Amino acid sequence: MLVTMKSILEKANEDNYGIMAMNSVNMEMIRAALMAAEEEYSPFIIQIGPMQMKNLGHSEEIVPMVQELSDRLKIPVALNLDHCGDLDIIIKCIKAGFTNVMFDGSNLPYQENIEKTRIVVSYAHANGVSVEAELGHVGQAVDNDDSKLDLYTDPKQAIDFVKATQVDALAVAIGTAHGNYPKGRIPKIDFQRLQELKKVLKMPLVLHGGSGSGDENISKAVKYGINKVNVATDAFKCAKSCITASLNKQPDLDYIHLCMSVETGLKHFVKSYIHILNSFNRYTFSQEFKDNCTE
Ligand code: 13P
Repeated sequence: MLVTMKSILEKANEDNYGIMAMNSVNMEMIRAALMAAEEEYSPFIIQIGPMQMKNLGHSEEIVPMVQELSDRLKIPVALNLDHCGDLDIIIKCIKAGFTNVMFDGSNLPYQENIEKTRIVVSYAHANGVSVEAELGHVGQAVDNDDSKLDLYTDPKQAIDFVKATQVDALAVAIGTAHGNYPKGRIPKIDFQRLQELKKVLKMPLVLHGGSGSGDENISKAVKYGINKVNVATDAFKCAKSCITASLNKQPDLDYIHLCMSVETGLKHFVKSYIHILNSFNRYTFSQEFKDNCTE
């Protein structure tokens, strides 16, 4: 079933686990992710950014697809608009059926980030949609932004930001970055800062730039308060390597079987993430049975 991201993350925050949020641009990616999550009894977040929608996963097709697939499942699913600074796109996506939007004003001057985030929160909440925002700035791994301390989230400022904006989840900059890290380098996460942020904010926190950040880092980040881990680059890499591996093995393999190999590979990939984030077995049959009995 399709629900707000807030409802998924509040539970993850209460019970101290993380949810995978996978950038997904087509049916194979979305179906693989949701089937894997259903088999693991894990909540899941499908997300897509404005450029990804422009290039391939148009919102008019993605929204009904996620709605249809989620309706068939028992697990809670959220559909998030990832990294958007454009208010028109945000309004369009809320009207189209996204259940969360991420307003990214992390590049703006602080006051402007607050003001624009507040506008988004007010519109989204009035329409039953939750909001993620970003403070500090999670930059690009290729530019070594992960190690630029001046971009990291300041806990004092974060208290002020959350109070002023009333966002439902906060993306924090603590030492990860988007995209591929230089070969052989795993980022150094500032766990002390993360613990401090969790202690003062007590709310769902989001880690961007999950790809290449290392399983140990990710599970430790969840232990110390991260409840949503964004993964894009590694998911696309996984899909691509399924295609190349299949073609290397069988050069005349037909298109349908190539697509099927992508789904199978991504399902394994998502399941392994679900275990790193400790979000499996969160919805059991008996839980569902109990919920139905009390309705
Ligand atoms: P990666 O591409 O590094 O996994 O980052 C994804 C992300 O943070 C999307 O918001």
